[in-house]
Amino acid sequence: MIESLAPKAPDPLLKIIKMYREDPRTDKIDLGVGVYKDGEGNTPVMRAVKDAEALLLAGQKTKTYVGQQGDVDFLKLVGQLAFGAMSREFVSIQAVGGTGALRLGCDLLREAGAKRVLLPAPCWPNHPSIVRAARLEPIDAPFFNITEQRIDMDALIASFAQAERGDGVILQACCHNPLGADFSLEQWTQLAAALNARGIIAFVDLAYQGFGDGIDEDVAGARRLLEQVPEAIIAISEAKSFGIYRERVGALFVKAAEKSRAAVMSNLAAIARANYSMPPDHGAAIVREVLSDEKLRASWREELDQIRSHIKRTRRQLAAARVNSMPMHLIADQKGMFSTLPLDGAQVTRLREQHGIYMTDSARINVAGLREADIPRFVEALKAVA
Ligand code: LMR
Repeated sequence: MIESLAPKAPDPLLKIIKMYREDPRTDKIDLGVGVYKDGEGNTPVMRAVKDAEALLLAGQKTKTYVGQQGDVDFLKLVGQLAFGAMSREFVSIQAVGGTGALRLGCDLLREAGAKRVLLPAPCWPNHPSIVRAARLEPIDAPFFNITEQRIDMDALIASFAQAERGDGVILQACCHNPLGADFSLEQWTQLAAALNARGIIAFVDLAYQGFGDGIDEDVAGARRLLEQVPEAIIAISEAKSFGIYRERVGALFVKAAEKSRAAVMSNLAAIARANYSMPPDHGAAIVREVLSDEKLRASWREELDQIRSHIKRTRRQLAAARVNSMPMHLIADQKGMFSTLPLDGAQVTRLREQHGIYMTDSARINVAGLREADIPRFVEALKAVA
């Protein structure tokens, strides 16, 4: 039985990690998976995280289960950080990373009767796999013109016609992965009206709070949407905002009418129980400690501000480069870790094979992983292939 399994294609993002590691060139440049790197190319543990871990080590009295909902104080603090006061009305459950939250949300949608999830394309390459794993149908919704680096709202809203009432649409709250192109406040309002008109559920994916324009600025659009829709699902990852990638810290929030909240919670608990039973503790405890302690919180904010400034500086430096007809200048206006360059597969392969520069096959670059010292060589390589 097991011997008859057919092999699966490698994950488009994770395969880059392997290829990069196996490349013996010492001047190779890794713009693959979305991990922030400092000027020296390291991904250090944030000071506030180290301090919180020391507190946890000294103070933790038990390793018994955290409970089905997870760390309730963590959920309150993370909800407040993302949505302010309105989060008090939301049902919440801790999740195994942002991916785990997305999967919980898709399973919930399916349980509620949804059949499809619209994915504004290009989307994060893992979104369709998560949707399919929840036995929902992923539907591509045209959304972005890569050559012009422009959001096409008309095309996106027109694509909503492919969904039925109760289906979902995944909307990235900020720092779009893979495009770096975010909706304006007006566009969020437009989206809310279009979703309400068709009865489609907004499924907000928030994974980079603080990486774009600021902690509050990055969620202003999603908050506007959430104020205007009766029901919504929100998946949160804290991997990037706290630099705790391997701790798998996520949360799922659901906006629903008061009378259905207990049923929503019981469904989420049942889905989680059959999947991983109860969430891990450590990463969420770190976030709880940092957000509940004034000093740690201030230290975290300061370091997050530095990360954001560094990414913005890299964006400006790239935007100043002239690369044949590529619209490099637009990179400065884009947000967060990623941008997608107008390069085809053959150009991406040449960058990798001839120049040792690694990005996804779809030409997504992790701007937050580009060292200042590597920018000139990266630009020269782009000129050579573009
Ligand atoms: C990415 O898109 O590079 C990150 O979100 C890492 C991942 O899990 O794919």
